[in-house]
Amino acid sequence: MPDSSADDPSLHRVASVGELEAGDSSVVDVDGEQVALFHLNDEYFALSNVCPHQGGPLGQGRVEDECVYCPWHGWQFDVESGEHVQGDDVVPTYEVVVEDGDIHVRV
Ligand code: FES
Repeated sequence: MPDSSADDPSLHRVASVGELEAGDSSVVDVDGEQVALFHLNDEYFALSNVCPHQGGPLGQGRVEDECVYCPWHGWQFDVESGEHVQGDDVVPTYEVVVEDGDIHVRV
């Protein structure tokens, strides 16, 4: 059973389940961190919104084949692992917990 967000200060509510359509992404502020939130294949994934190349906003990137393309120069990252598809860079990922119709991110 997942941690209850009410009992876990590291879990932050970022949205309701219905707010993010399948295939969509958004950028949320989580305790001062800019986090890119993705809804793919009935799951939610959270990555740092900051591209390791030059800081592009990954949450505004196009998503295709479970990868997000940075909107600035097109670097491609696996949405689940944060790994750069063509290189060694890795974007930090965050645990997502869905509970009682709310989406929480652990930071
Ligand atoms: S800032 Fe993301 S690819 Fe350049």
